[in-house]
Amino acid sequence: MNWTDGSGSYKKERVHESPRLGDRTRRVRSMLPGFDVEGILLFGEANIRYLTGFAGSDGTLFVGRERSVLLVDGRYITQAKEEAADCDVVEFTDRAEGVVGVISGLGLKRVGIESSVITLDSYLTLQDRTAGVSLKPLSGEIERIRIIKDTGEAALLREAAGMAARALAGTLEHIEPGITERDAAAILEMKMRQAGGEGPSFETIVASGSNSALPHATPGAREIQDGDFVTIDYGTVCGGYHSDETCTFAVGGVTERQAAVYAVVKGAHDKAIDAVKAGVSCKDIDAIARTHIDDAGYGAYFSHGTGHGVGLAVHEPPRLSGRAEDFLEKGMVITVEPGIYIPGLWGVRIEDTVMVEKDGCEVLTKMSKDLRIL
Ligand code: GLY
Ligand code: MN
Ligand code: MN
Repeated sequence: MNWTDGSGSYKKERVHESPRLGDRTRRVRSMLPGFDVEGILLFGEANIRYLTGFAGSDGTLFVGRERSVLLVDGRYITQAKEEAADCDVVEFTDRAEGVVGVISGLGLKRVGIESSVITLDSYLTLQDRTAGVSLKPLSGEIERIRIIKDTGEAALLREAAGMAARALAGTLEHIEPGITERDAAAILEMKMRQAGGEGPSFETIVASGSNSALPHATPGAREIQDGDFVTIDYGTVCGGYHSDETCTFAVGGVTERQAAVYAVVKGAHDKAIDAVKAGVSCKDIDAIARTHIDDAGYGAYFSHGTGHGVGLAVHEPPRLSGRAEDFLEKGMVITVEPGIYIPGLWGVRIEDTVMVEKDGCEVLTKMSKDLRIL
C-alpha cells in the first residue's frame, strides 16, 4: 500500500508490476508522449482490468510515465489490493478528491482522460478542481489497446464460448410450442451459470415469430409456436472475457421461403468467415456478407454491421461495417453476424465469434449453424 497522508495527495514510490500486466502498462506509457500528456486517467472497467487485474465494477486508474495508481472506494479496497497486487492502490471517499490528490501530488499539468467513459458532470467537476491542469480527452486511442488478444485471453474466450454452447445444448429440449421467450431465456441463463459462467455477456435474446424480425428484441411473454423462427443471441463471461453467438432455430418445420432466407444468411456468414485472415480489411468482410445478401434481394433487410471485436467488453474494436477502416490482424477476435429481418414476419441471424489467424481463423463459438428444426 502506497499512499496517503490523509490530505488526499499521492506520495509514495511505485512498486514492481507482473511481466504481463507490466508489458501492457509499458505500452500505454509509451503512448503518452504522442498524446502530449504526463499520464492518463482511465474509468472503464475493461481497460482497468486489462492493465491491473482488478475485476471490480468501479474504479479509476491513473497511468503516469513512471507510476500507476488505482483508486477505489471502500467497497472494493480488499479486492483491489488482492487483484491489483502490482498497483499502488488508493482508497477514496470522493472520487474527484482522490483524483485531484493524485494530480496535485504528482504535480501534473497535462493529463489525458478516457472521455468515452467519464460523464460530463464528472469531467466538469474535475476541471473545476484542477485549475491550471489541461485535461485532454482521449477515447478511441485507449479503446484500441486491447484489440490483439494473447494466448491467455484466447483461452478464456474459448472457454466462455464452450460453457455457453453446453448451456444452449441443454436448453434446446425445453424449446417447444408453449414455452415463453422469457422462460427459455431464464433456463439458458441458469444453465450458463451452472456451466461456470460469471454472468450473461449481455441481456440474452430469445426472439420468436415476428419478434425475431427485431434484431435486438427483449424476451417477453410470447409463447413459442410451431412455424416460428426462434433467434437466440447469447453469451457468458469467463475470467472477464465474453462469448457472443447467435443461433436461429425453426420450430416444427419451415416454409420454403424461410428455408431460402436461412440459406442466404448462412451463405453470407460462411463466405465472410472464409474470407477472414490477417491483412484483410474489416470493410471487405462486411462487403462480402452484404453483397451476398444484396444479390439475393434482401439487402434492405440487413440493417446492421457484420460484426465487432469481443473481449473484456462484448463490443469493442474493430468494427466490421462499410465505414470500418481497420485491417484484420492475427490475434483479433471478432464476430461475424449477418441477418435478414422481415418486419412483421420473422428474421434470421447467424453469429459466430472467430479469432483471426495468419491464413484464416479459428471459430471459437461451438454450435452448428446448419438449419435445425426443433
Ligand atoms: N448480442 C449482441 C451482439 O451480437 O452484438
Ligand atoms: Mn450476439
Ligand atoms: Mn455480436
